[in-house]
Amino acid sequence: MTFQEQIQQGIPDQLPQPKPYETNINHAPKRKEILGEEEKKLALKNALRYFDPKFHAELLPEFREELEKYGRIYMYRFRPDYEMKARDIADYPGKSEQAKAIMLMIQNNLDYAVAQHPHELITYGGNGAVFSNWAQYLLTMKYLSEMTDEQTLTMYSGHPMGLFPSHKDAPRVVVTNGMMIPNYSKPDDWEKFNALGVTQYGQMTAGSYMYIGPQGIVHGTTITVLNAFRKIKKEPKGGLFVTSGLGGMSGAQPKAGNIAGCVTVCAEVNPKITRIRHEQKWVNEIYENMDELIERVRKAQENMETVSLAYLGNIVEVWEKFDEKNLKIDIGSDQTSLHNPWAGGYYPAGQSFEESNRMMAEEPELFKEKVQETLRRHAAAINKHTQKGTYFFDYGNAFLLEASRAGADVMAENPTLGREFKYPSYVQDIMGPMCFDYGFGPFRWVCASGKPEDLQKTDNIACAVLEEMVKNSPEEIQQQMKDNIQWIKGAQENKLVVGSQARILYADAEGRMKIAEAFNNAIKKGEIGPVVLGRDHHDVSGTDSPYRETSNIYDGSRFTADMAIHNVIGDSFRGATWVSIHNGGGVGWGEVINGGFGMLLDGSAEADRRLKSMLFWDVNNGISRRSWARNEGAVFAIKRAMEAEPNLKVTLPNFVDESLF
Ligand SMILES: NC(=O)c1ccc[n+]([C@@H]2O[C@H](COP(=O)([O-])OP(=O)(O)OC[C@H]3O[C@@H](n4cnc5c(N)ncnc54)[C@H](O)[C@@H]3O)[C@@H](O)[C@H]2O)c1
Repeated sequence: MTFQEQIQQGIPDQLPQPKPYETNINHAPKRKEILGEEEKKLALKNALRYFDPKFHAELLPEFREELEKYGRIYMYRFRPDYEMKARDIADYPGKSEQAKAIMLMIQNNLDYAVAQHPHELITYGGNGAVFSNWAQYLLTMKYLSEMTDEQTLTMYSGHPMGLFPSHKDAPRVVVTNGMMIPNYSKPDDWEKFNALGVTQYGQMTAGSYMYIGPQGIVHGTTITVLNAFRKIKKEPKGGLFVTSGLGGMSGAQPKAGNIAGCVTVCAEVNPKITRIRHEQKWVNEIYENMDELIERVRKAQENMETVSLAYLGNIVEVWEKFDEKNLKIDIGSDQTSLHNPWAGGYYPAGQSFEESNRMMAEEPELFKEKVQETLRRHAAAINKHTQKGTYFFDYGNAFLLEASRAGADVMAENPTLGREFKYPSYVQDIMGPMCFDYGFGPFRWVCASGKPEDLQKTDNIACAVLEEMVKNSPEEIQQQMKDNIQWIKGAQENKLVVGSQARILYADAEGRMKIAEAFNNAIKKGEIGPVVLGRDHHDVSGTDSPYRETSNIYDGSRFTADMAIHNVIGDSFRGATWVSIHNGGGVGWGEVINGGFGMLLDGSAEADRRLKSMLFWDVNNGISRRSWARNEGAVFAIKRAMEAEPNLKVTLPNFVDESLF
């Protein structure tokens, strides 16, 4: 059968042969045993409803074994044999170009080079699922291959509920992931309902088919490091950035430090991960000896080198020794996985990596004590540095939260709502006021032809648009524009493409609209093939997350989720090709509501109309909310948007004189 025929077939009429469990693939960990006997029966019945009853007797023992062994039913037997990767859009079967674009994006999220656990349909973050099982994948691809532009596919947490009649301007796909009744949104609820096969954790861009590999995180981290140096009014050249973690996201830090141009020291306890990052050239040199590291840092600072140094050991040793030896740290942060402190997210000091792993499994209470003791030391050492002038920020990894729970000295002297800790988070000080409040966020696109030359052309187009815009941009956003021009100019050289031909850059509403319009014109003229637009959910309007994306909202509304919900509803009737809304993503199940969109540009007049209408809303919705929360940058940005678009009329806040209280 050809690739097209296999897609059109959906769930095969004949059972495929069972597939052996491939040990050379990075598999999802065994999930916690959570279902009782009756619930297991329910999970099996739920799984079997995808198949003709004549196959049930054969499939039942196999699915039961998967459930017992892995805690989930993935239906490995149904994993397709063709290569999983984004193909040229022209290679997909179907009646709708928009639906074909979605197929391409789904396959990219499951590409072995992109996905973390490809056989379990997990793209990133350990549990960020595109689907819960292979039957859902097969059925979804079949629906997409047969639908027209007069239908919409409804996705319930990975399950394709079906095709419903709609109209040309409606989204082709509407995705929800993990939407729970709020009282049933605790971490164990996810384990249970996911094991039953009725919901899934979509993370942000996993379940919404918009992941583009590590490029997104490198760009976001670069913007953060650059702006952290600006915050302290220092050039990155010769400056010292100290942090930790060389894992999934944290591994982007040394690379970002190099793009920014500073000296980076990044501690990592895991030798294997340290070696991988070094081989990938994401970190330049590895040190195991502290004295050698200190000598190397001094030399790098003297010579104003751009270099990243990994310390194979505990981050606490770095903070303590650098204090003792009087090494001035300019910028400090931390990206250990403190959202998961008791199961390997944070390693205690004073004992080996192996000993920690043993203790974690065999003496969990003692391990917890050691973690908390280390956190107190960690915070105490940071405090010594900040007294000497280091600028420290929390990197959204729950460092300050867990340190405070451990009794470390991290609380603010006079805590206020949203400013409970001594130190700010990266969104409170950097991303929020410098980017999101002005509408700058992680806009991205994918060249649906799969051609590297198309990506090169779109880079050039985007760069030309930004260079034209920066000439007349107000002072307030000059820096953001220039950073992105610099990024897009160096993008090809930095070789960040993994999987589809994708690019990310931070742009505001006007920038996103102008770049998209220029792409659509180039497609119309036949200069490039179709382009899929999208964005990360970690953006201006897409995400309500009180300790991350919306942590710089101080009017109390950061615990509400109206903005994310409005965003997805608004995008859906303004022309998005697909929309998604998720519970969970980054900070955990029940902790965030986040949404996104995808939009196919095909060079048509309809695409031109849709992109203007939808992108304008997709950014200005969040700016209006940030402005209502009295964020000054957002008040500036929304007033500017109202001047440009007379049909926009937003309620503006009045500021109250503090002395009245
Ligand atoms: N990069 C971002 O933009 C961003 C944004 C928001 C949140 N985060 C948070 O950052 C954290 C890290 O994410 P990740 O994907 O890299 O996780 P990860 O688990 O892949 O990596 C964390 C690394 O820290 C190492 N580590 C743990 N304790 C250590 C210690 N005491 N000293 C030195 N190294 C230690 C671990 O070995 C691991 O390799 C997460 O909590 C994530 O939610 C990152």
